[in-house]
Amino acid sequence: MLLTSCLAALALAVSASATQQFFSAQSPANFQSYDAGLFTPLEDLSLLSKTDFTTLSHPLFPNYSVRIKKSDFCDETVASYTGYIDIQARHFFFYFFESRNDPATDDIIYWTAGGPGCSSSLELFMEFGPCRVTDVNTTTFNPYSWNERANIFFVDQPVNVGFSYAEFGEVVSTTTEAAKDMAAFTAIFFEHFSQFKGRAFHVGGASYGGRYIPVFASEVYDQNARLIEAGLTPINLTSILIGNGCTDPATMTASYYDMACRPMPVDPILDISTCVRMKQAVGRCEKMMKESCVDKFEAIGCQAASVFCGAEIEAPFDASGYNPYDISKPCDGVVSDNLCYPLSKTIEKYLSRPVTRASLGVDAVVPEEFQVCNNDVNSAFHVSHDHMFPTQFYIAALLERGIRTLLYIGVNDWICNWVGNDRMVQGMEWTGQQAFVDQPLREWSVDGQVAGLTRSAGPLTFLTLDNAGHMPAYDTPKAAQVMLQRWLAGEEM
Ligand SMILES: *[C@@H]1O[C@H](CO)[C@@H](O)[C@H](O)[C@H]1NC(C)=O
Ligand SMILES: *[C@@H]1O[C@H](CO)[C@@H](O)[C@H](O)[C@H]1NC(C)=O
Ligand SMILES: *[C@@H]1O[C@H](CO)[C@@H](O)[C@H](O)[C@H]1NC(C)=O
Repeated sequence: MLLTSCLAALALAVSASATQQFFSAQSPANFQSYDAGLFTPLEDLSLLSKTDFTTLSHPLFPNYSVRIKKSDFCDETVASYTGYIDIQARHFFFYFFESRNDPATDDIIYWTAGGPGCSSSLELFMEFGPCRVTDVNTTTFNPYSWNERANIFFVDQPVNVGFSYAEFGEVVSTTTEAAKDMAAFTAIFFEHFSQFKGRAFHVGGASYGGRYIPVFASEVYDQNARLIEAGLTPINLTSILIGNGCTDPATMTASYYDMACRPMPVDPILDISTCVRMKQAVGRCEKMMKESCVDKFEAIGCQAASVFCGAEIEAPFDASGYNPYDISKPCDGVVSDNLCYPLSKTIEKYLSRPVTRASLGVDAVVPEEFQVCNNDVNSAFHVSHDHMFPTQFYIAALLERGIRTLLYIGVNDWICNWVGNDRMVQGMEWTGQQAFVDQPLREWSVDGQVAGLTRSAGPLTFLTLDNAGHMPAYDTPKAAQVMLQRWLAGEEM
């Protein structure tokens, strides 16, 4: 889920220090050599307690540890676990579900939600987790879960999202900072649970995940060099998956016109006079964004582009009353309250129940009222201009290194729509660009029924899902599961 559009920074003042922070180089990590004598891996997840956390640490990551316990939560057919990644005063909550097929050989998926500021519990309980929340006290087994043939993590990040928290009001406001925490977590996990070492590892996310996931995966990739230097096993980063991603603000913003004024595929929503006015603004908006946000980042100019594009191209849709995550229907509620999905409120109530929190091992300091999305985190990212970064540069870099990339998009989504993703992915410069662009968009099918369109070349696949919005596995769970399974198996869509 994306709390606000690509451009929500419009009302926020430019903060020079935040911009500097956004662009400052990461300080090089000061790793010491790995001393095997200091460290005994836990090896086996089945040894964990159901009631108490076991704490894991590692000398290569002195500031990090992991608390984990067994659980019979959500899916009684598999072993499942919950816990926290503790990074000094920052604490990240995660769920881990083993595969329903063969946990000892199946791939591992690391999943985190978008926002920025939304909890992965949205995807877990609404889309493709092992169970779905059906009322405030109940979950129901989900046969279309993505752990059907994979081990899967759901992580609440950055801090102050979902059950994650920081002790002294610390905040994370850029994707680059969040990526370091995520990469360290991954390394610690594999060092301890040696049964998973070398296993194919996929990093996935939706919505603002279009920004997070390429950066997270790049950090995991770069970290591997340090792991090897320290004598550790590198993480077998195999692919990234991005669902309805917002990756490139420039192409996404222009496409808000196409989604609202052309049959793409929903009939035009806005009236002709509004659409003509929008059309006249599109070229200017694209030019401003390219000059000030993409070719070079210049905070004041990029901010001006945001304000202009927001007012001219985005505001008319916002006023329409349609669901920005699914333009085939009106918003069911108020987007700022329930994201247009009343189920999001039910999930909040379910996760606020003391009995749920106790079974998950949620730390007592976490506020009692669960929020699926945290507006303060969202604002902090916008103030730092994190959302204006052309993140396709990271995707291209991963593709050049052979990391497979799947971009899948429910076609009825407006906010991170398929038109913008199609333009972004065709315009992305990398060695395989021409081969990719030369491929036609062709239909793909599930059980003999057309499920959407796809284009693929080398490690890159673009795919749409018909009759689905921002959360394809909510609208078309079977098609989404089939897509995932073909992707993991390396099969043609
Ligand atoms: C661990 O944290 C301390 C205090 O914040 C810091 O000085 C040190 O550099 C960190 N160590 C590593 C390896 O990041
Ligand atoms: C949920 O459980 C609580 C406590 O047992 C009960 O008071 C409430 O009526 C239940 N709600 C539903 C919708 O079943
Ligand atoms: C990484 O995963 C792939 C896909 O499962 C597998 O073919 C390969 O052997 C693995 N690499 C390592 C080093 O284990």
